[in-house]
Amino acid sequence: MKHLIGIDVGTSGVKTILVNELGDLLATAFEDYPLSTPHPNWAEQDPADWWRATINTTRDVVSAADVDAASICGVALSGQMHSSVMLDDQNEVLRPSMLWCDTRTTEQCRWITDTVGEDQLSRWVSNPALEGFTAPKLIWVRDHEPDVFARIRRVMLPKDYVRFRMTGKYGMEVSDAAGTLLFDVQNRCWSTDMIGALGLSEEIMPPVFESIDICGEITDSVAEVTGLRAGTPVVAGGADNTCGAVGTGIVSPGLVLASLGTSGVVFAHTDDVKVDPEMRVHSFCHSVPGKWYLMGVSLFAGGSLQWFRNNLGQLETVTGSLSGLDPYELLTREAEQAPAGSEGLVFLPYLMGERTPHKDANAKGAFVGITGRHERSHMVRAVMEGITFALRDSLEIMHGLGLEVEQIRTTGGGARSKLWRQIQADVYGAEVVTVNKEEGPAFGAAVLAGVGTGLYPGVEAACEELIKIETRTEPNSSDQARYEDQYGIFTGLYPALKPSFDSISEIVKNDTR
Ligand code: XUL
Repeated sequence: MKHLIGIDVGTSGVKTILVNELGDLLATAFEDYPLSTPHPNWAEQDPADWWRATINTTRDVVSAADVDAASICGVALSGQMHSSVMLDDQNEVLRPSMLWCDTRTTEQCRWITDTVGEDQLSRWVSNPALEGFTAPKLIWVRDHEPDVFARIRRVMLPKDYVRFRMTGKYGMEVSDAAGTLLFDVQNRCWSTDMIGALGLSEEIMPPVFESIDICGEITDSVAEVTGLRAGTPVVAGGADNTCGAVGTGIVSPGLVLASLGTSGVVFAHTDDVKVDPEMRVHSFCHSVPGKWYLMGVSLFAGGSLQWFRNNLGQLETVTGSLSGLDPYELLTREAEQAPAGSEGLVFLPYLMGERTPHKDANAKGAFVGITGRHERSHMVRAVMEGITFALRDSLEIMHGLGLEVEQIRTTGGGARSKLWRQIQADVYGAEVVTVNKEEGPAFGAAVLAGVGTGLYPGVEAACEELIKIETRTEPNSSDQARYEDQYGIFTGLYPALKPSFDSISEIVKNDTR
């Protein structure tokens, strides 16, 4: 029996899995690391933490699965998108990585849009300049840390940096390169026009591969500390979102993934490159060679429920630790006590600003419509509903672009809870299904490792073989009607509150200066 390793370099930690060629999970390991926010809107991590967690979790799965290292035919990585790694001429990391959820670059985004123009952005890189993307971060470093900028010899993304340390080979692959804003998404190569217009050098960008290409081998020193065989092929892998899509079989038209992790993502496979004329949803390269996808991102979807648990769910956290129950399970039970629509209580999940559809770093979270009747159960349910409405915003844009949606698959925290699956089906007005593979992006990476090393004939064939539907949730017509009304209220709230969000941002900026 052959084996594969998938490694996901995420925002909260590294998750590594070892599976056999049938896709059965033999071992899994997770190691977390901190995220620092030295200033409001900043979010940074130390790439050394990703590396340490990768080595530890890889060693753990190799030892726990207890398989012959020679039977592990490939390793591939998935990772958080957009987050920057800047290396000097000795391959030393120059500064902490600025993450995808770091929104300090509003001014740089404005400069990029003014310099390049919206039409050229759409033509050259198929996407607007958004705070989370990589290019605005490079411009921020040029504006604020010119000494650091002058020493940059290589720019990488998290999983590519980790792969570099595993193999000694530079490389990026199309699905992550697409999120840099420096990549010609239609032609799957660096955009010389864009890089030139921003005054950057193409030399700092690594060579680009397709996600299934082998781009290095495990070095002797890495073999020694992990138990892997030196020379094991390392396949390029992909962005966490494309790997999450591969890991749930979103590899053909009509299939859409609604993923609820820290960020909430609506991901729709497309056979051709499609660009929203208003660039509200992203157009990026898929990890399936020669395919693309449309994506909407709600920045703090699962993150909003985590915020609720941390700040208002102490009771569930303590009860959970005493009883061994998951605090989210306890919160969900509480949410079940409130009716659909939370008796008019509406939650906006914009705690970290919002990407799709508002593209607004100043957007804020809100509970609107609190009355004396409302209890905590309504609040938890309203949080789950508000997050789901935010994902529906992306689906609506995709419908408007003529995308046919045949099936919505859900994954992450929102997939595990029966209540949340029902809320999703009712809010989307469509059947919502889950699949047999719950390992998310790490599983998608393992599939790519298998395709890249010839174990499977292609990504589509591998998904067809390994991924099966597990649960199906149909919309419930009376709750669906209730949610239609509530969604109407939800969509009206952001424009109404926008002036207040801007004023709050101004005040808070002055407070924290
Ligand atoms: C996608 C995005 C997030 C990160 C999370 O554009 O910013 O989904 O990939 O890791």
